[in-house]
Amino acid sequence: MSMNTIKNKDDYQNFYKMSLDDKDGFWAEVAGNYTWKKPWTSVQTGNFKDLNVKWFDGATLNITENCLDRHLETRGDKTAIIFEPNDPNGEVINFTYKELHARVCQFSNVLKAQGVKKGDRVCFYMSMVPELLIGVLATARIGAIHSVVFGGFSANALAGRIQDCEASIVITNDAGFRGAKTIPLKEITDEALKTCPTIKSVLVSKRVGEEVNMIEGRDHWLTPLLDSASCDCPAEEMGAEDPLFILYTSGSTGKPKGLLHTTAGYMVWAGETYKNVFQVGEDDIFWCTADIGWITGHSYISYGPLLNGSTQVMFEGVPTYPDAGRFWEATEKHKVTHFYTAPTAIRALEAHGTDFVNKHDLSSLKVLGSVGEPINEEAWEWYNKNVGKEKCPIVDTWWQTETGGIMISPLPNVGDFIPSFAEAPLPGVDPIFVDADGKKVEGSPAEGNLCIRTPWPGMARTIWGDHERYKQTYFSTYPGLYFTGDGAKRDDQGRYRITGRVDDVINVSGHRMGTAEVEDALNQHEDIVESAVVGYPHDIKGQGIYAYVIWNPQSSKAQDHKAIHKELNEMVIKMIGPIAKPDKVQVVSGLPKTRSGKIMRRILRKVASGETSNLGDTSTLLNPEVVEEIKSGAL
Ligand code: WT7
Repeated sequence: MSMNTIKNKDDYQNFYKMSLDDKDGFWAEVAGNYTWKKPWTSVQTGNFKDLNVKWFDGATLNITENCLDRHLETRGDKTAIIFEPNDPNGEVINFTYKELHARVCQFSNVLKAQGVKKGDRVCFYMSMVPELLIGVLATARIGAIHSVVFGGFSANALAGRIQDCEASIVITNDAGFRGAKTIPLKEITDEALKTCPTIKSVLVSKRVGEEVNMIEGRDHWLTPLLDSASCDCPAEEMGAEDPLFILYTSGSTGKPKGLLHTTAGYMVWAGETYKNVFQVGEDDIFWCTADIGWITGHSYISYGPLLNGSTQVMFEGVPTYPDAGRFWEATEKHKVTHFYTAPTAIRALEAHGTDFVNKHDLSSLKVLGSVGEPINEEAWEWYNKNVGKEKCPIVDTWWQTETGGIMISPLPNVGDFIPSFAEAPLPGVDPIFVDADGKKVEGSPAEGNLCIRTPWPGMARTIWGDHERYKQTYFSTYPGLYFTGDGAKRDDQGRYRITGRVDDVINVSGHRMGTAEVEDALNQHEDIVESAVVGYPHDIKGQGIYAYVIWNPQSSKAQDHKAIHKELNEMVIKMIGPIAKPDKVQVVSGLPKTRSGKIMRRILRKVASGETSNLGDTSTLLNPEVVEEIKSGAL
C-alpha cells in the first residue's frame, strides 16, 4: 500500500483500519515519507499506564532537514513563504526554499555563537515576522528547544514561562505591528527579565523602528549578526524522542503547563495531518491565519506546510485592519487556495457584513478550515456561502496543544461536511467516550467525555519538569485513557461533534484560558476578597469571561462598579495579558458555596448565561441567600 494522500472514502476506511489493526506496520510505512539519518529500532513502545510512550525510538533525524534540505533539489526555487505585512501597502517578502534554508542556517550560527547548545531552551517573544519562523527552525536545527510565547502576553506571563523552562536566551522585536497598534515587545521583555536570572542574552529584531534600551553585553541587534553569519550549518543529529519544543497552555488548575513535544512523532503527525486534512497540491497556496505563539501556528505554519514542500502565506496583521476585508483582499492578492482560520474571526467578520467579502475575487479557494473552538452553525453557513461560495469543503479540525496536530476532522473528498461536526478520527486516532462515572460508552448515537485510547505519534510526552502533573492532569481521571477535557457526541452514523470543555477551561476567541488563572490574577488586587470566574456564551468570542468578585466593603470604590471593573482589567492585563480581561464583573457580597466550602460554579455559570429560572437544588448550600442576590444583580 502506498502512503499517499487519502483520496476517497475507501482510502480513508482502509487507512483507518490498518492504523489500528497493524499500528507498527502502518506508521513504519508512513514514516518512509520522511528523511532519517538512522532508522528506528521500534515503531512504538510504552503505554498510558506507565506514561513512557516513545515513537520511532532509536532513529535519528533533524526535523529541519525534512522541512528544508530535502526540498532543495526539487523545490529549491519554489516559494516557501509569502510574507504579507500588517500594512497592506507594505512590502511583501517571498522566501524560496533555498533562501529559507540559507536564512535558517545563518540564524542557527548566530544562536551557536551566543552559546546555545543542544537541549538549551530558546524563548521567542515576537510578532508574526519571518524572523520568528526562521528562528524557530534555527533552534530545531541545532537541537535546542524552542518555547514561543504569544506576543499578547504580559511581562509577568512571559517571565513565568521563561522561569519555568529556564531559557538562556530570548529573541524579540523592538516592537510589533498589530493592526493600528504597536506592541512594545522589547520593553515588555526588559520588564520580564528583571526576574529571569537564567537569561544570558537577548536578540532584538528590528521591525517598527522603536527606540529601545539595549543593555550592553546582554542585548544585541539581530540583523547585523545574521548578515555576517555563514549560510551553512549542518543539522544536529537528534534522537527521535529528543525534545523539539515546549509550549505553554492553560488548564483548569494552577499555572500554565509547558507541554513538551518531541522530534520524530511530532514531525510525522504534523506532516501527515497537514497532508491529509488540507490536501494542498504542488501549485496551491496555503494560509493559516494563526499566530506561531499558539500550537496551530507551530503545526500548520512552522512545520506541516514546510514538511510537505508547500507555499504558504505568513500574515503579520489582524483580520480587521485596515478593514474587515483584509483576509479576502490578501486571499485574492496571493491566490490562496487553502484557508485556515478560527470561528471567532469568522464571526467577527460576519458582523461587518458581506460587502467586504463580495468585493474580492475568491475563486482561487478550494478548501476552508476551522480550528480552535466549536464552530456554530450560523458561522459555518456564512463561511460556506460567502467565502467558499458553496464549493469548498470546510474542514472543522478538532485538536489540542497536547495532541500536536489534528485528531478529528472531515477530509476533502471524504467528509459529509455537516455544520459543527468534526466528523471522523484521522488514522491512528482511537477515540472513546466515557460517562461521568467512568464507564465506557459504546455504539452510536452516543455522548460522553472524549478520551483517546491508545498513543498516537503527535501526543505531548510530558509537562516540562513535572511528569507527575502530566499524569494527574490527563491520565488519572479515567485510568488508562487520555482525557481531553472536551465533551462530544456521535450521531447515528458515528460522526463526531465536539460540544466544548467539560472542565474549568474556557475558550475565549479561540484562546484557551483557565478560570483559576484569571481568578489568581484578580486576587492580586488588594481590594479583592474573593473571586470566581466562569465562561458565558458570547456572540463573537464564543465564550466571554464573567467574574464574580467580593470587593473590600471598606474600600473607597466599593460602590463604583465601573471603576472596579477598570482596575481589575488593569490587573489582569498586568498578570496575563489583554486576552484575559473579564467582559463582565459583578460585585457580590458572597459566593454560593457547598458545606465543604467549594464554590458552586454550576450556579454561577447558569446566572452568567442568563439562565436564572432553573438553578437546580440550592438548599444544600452553606449560604443559599446569596443566590437571590447574585440573580438579581446579574449583568
Ligand atoms: C481546545 C484546545 C487546536 C488548536 C487550537 C486550540 C477546543 C479546538 C476545536 C474544534 C470544537 C475545538 C477544544 C480543545 N477546540 N478545535 N474544531 N471544535 N472545539 O488549541 O488552545 O490547546 O485548545 O480547543 O475545547 O480542547 P488549544
